[in-house]
Amino acid sequence: MNFTKRQIIQQILSQQSDQPRLDQAQAFAPVNIALCKYWGKRDIELNLPLTASLSIALPNYGTHTQLQVIDAPADRIIVNDHLIDNETEFATKLIAFLDLFRTEKTWHLEIQTTSDVPIAAGLASSASGFSALVLALQQLFQWNLSLTELSILARLGSGSACRSLWPGFVLWQAGIATDGMDSHGIAIEKKWPGLMMGLLIFHQEAKSISSRDAMQRTVTTSQLYCSWPAQVEQDIQQLQQAITLQDFNLLGSTAEHNALSMHATMMSAWPPIIYTSSSTLTAMQKVWSLRAAGIPVYFTQDAGPHLKLLFMREHANIITNNFPELIHIELFQNNQS
Ligand code: PMV
Repeated sequence: MNFTKRQIIQQILSQQSDQPRLDQAQAFAPVNIALCKYWGKRDIELNLPLTASLSIALPNYGTHTQLQVIDAPADRIIVNDHLIDNETEFATKLIAFLDLFRTEKTWHLEIQTTSDVPIAAGLASSASGFSALVLALQQLFQWNLSLTELSILARLGSGSACRSLWPGFVLWQAGIATDGMDSHGIAIEKKWPGLMMGLLIFHQEAKSISSRDAMQRTVTTSQLYCSWPAQVEQDIQQLQQAITLQDFNLLGSTAEHNALSMHATMMSAWPPIIYTSSSTLTAMQKVWSLRAAGIPVYFTQDAGPHLKLLFMREHANIITNNFPELIHIELFQNNQS
């Protein structure tokens, strides 16, 4: 049986209010970067993945969302202090998501959202956006849903959003249920002081093909894709082991290999999908030269040309000397997550 998003939402909210209980609410959710990627869906409507994935949250980098109930015939959306047209792609997606929660006695909201990360930087802003939104809705409607249930709701907005409800490392278990009730984020309660991520952003252009379309094309046309689930299984195990043992080289090499393998499946799709640019390749070569010179640094890459570097605090200086434009982030600040 195939379920619709609305059916899943009704199931989750069956004991909860369908009307706002407060006039306003606000929430923050972090950006998450996958170390083992989500690439391929078993259910396109519900954003159910074919495999598990594992991410790390960026503390203090994410989306802040403020909701205000308004007496108006439509929602108002303000992004980084600018009122945007409700016909834009961003607004259409957001309004369609809110529509799933509206009943006959309807309501409209002013949604103010600000992002700590550069806009259109290929930094999964939709993941932090949808998770901040469901957290703010929970407050506004005074639901008492668990983070697991909120993770399922966020997944209906954007798959990787289900990993943005927690700080630190998060596993998204693929699940097997057709309603997706077992497909959500799970916090991995392990901290890793000194672990850092550097963002290398090459340009601000929008991507040529959305991750949604790119993953679907890969699943349906790439011969290499059949090797991806086995690779993910191995990579998840290695990452969990690396996190438990705080084995940086195992973490970094697994993440880099996983990202390159995901891009290889895309390159073998038809028509081919290549997010990598000449700047990406130059930076990759620099990472490999640094490694050859004994500096432990690795990269991961999502559906865009930008790279995210992984390294330890003791090498931060040498790495920023080599990449002066790097935005570097302590992943576990003051031993907190
Ligand atoms: O959640 P989506 O549809 O934005 O897809 C995310 C895809 C990747 O960023 C490439 C991988 C991931 O796991 O975040």
